[in-house]
Amino acid sequence: MKISVIGAGNVGSLAAMRIAQEKLGNVVLVDVVKGMAQGKSCDLEDAQMLLNVDYSIEGTDDITKIKSSNIVVVTAGLARKPGMTREELLLKNSEILKNICISIKNYAPEAIVIIVTNPLDLMTYLALKITGFKREKLFGMGISLDAARFANLISKELKVPITEIEACVIGSHGEGMVPLAEFSSVKGTSLLKLLNQEKIDELFKKTVYRGAEIVSLLGSGSAFFAPSAAIAQIVKIIAKDQKQVIGVCASLSGEYGIDDICTGVPARIGINGIEQIIELKLSKENNNLLIKAVESIRSLAKQLPL
Ligand code: LAC
Repeated sequence: MKISVIGAGNVGSLAAMRIAQEKLGNVVLVDVVKGMAQGKSCDLEDAQMLLNVDYSIEGTDDITKIKSSNIVVVTAGLARKPGMTREELLLKNSEILKNICISIKNYAPEAIVIIVTNPLDLMTYLALKITGFKREKLFGMGISLDAARFANLISKELKVPITEIEACVIGSHGEGMVPLAEFSSVKGTSLLKLLNQEKIDELFKKTVYRGAEIVSLLGSGSAFFAPSAAIAQIVKIIAKDQKQVIGVCASLSGEYGIDDICTGVPARIGINGIEQIIELKLSKENNNLLIKAVESIRSLAKQLPL
């Protein structure tokens, strides 16, 4: 299996490291900045003896090296600065993504593509339009990270092990994120039974702003440990054909009453990408929140260079 990661910043290089160490495939790390992906790959190669694992990783500034990849992960693009929303990256990252998508279409037309560049829902939409790939084969990573953040907050609040928590988030990987208490639980007990509404609302808010909190603490750049773990998780589900249900940013065609827009929903993922979009039965209130998130994505989509 050949897995290419485009963008060797913090998220991309750590994702490459996790994918290589888990031996999910031969990794190609690409970055336009000369020497960057090569340097990081040399460094990662050197770790093999210390970790006692054999893996293959190659760094390059030549995007044609993604040729015939089975999976391509796109992390390239600018990260937000403190005080910025993900949406403020739209114009600059659209230009970066556009060229990358043309290369993916030319050199890796069979690949399953995972978009990570922000603003995620819009960049996934743009990538689908430019590549012309089917929605099964191209989707975004965002809300599985948000769900992991929500799970962490639940675990700390209830003082229970993270492994007992099921956390569900849908909607945009942005302020239109919709954490779902009724689909989140601890060992089968709904969050609604474990916490009062006020506490739940507090955790929702913290989840939505967790990325911004980290950006502001770091001072420059955005989160990378959890985002790279979320990428590696999706890559593993695909590479090992695990057929797990996980939140991804997918193009909807009628599901949840939504058409021709990408946003976060649970989906069953396997070796061929999205096998099924899961339609949760949402409360009226959450359904309205999802519709509101989608309207905001739709209005921003008008700014995309399509
Ligand atoms: C975050 C970025 C990766 O949520 O969108 O940290």
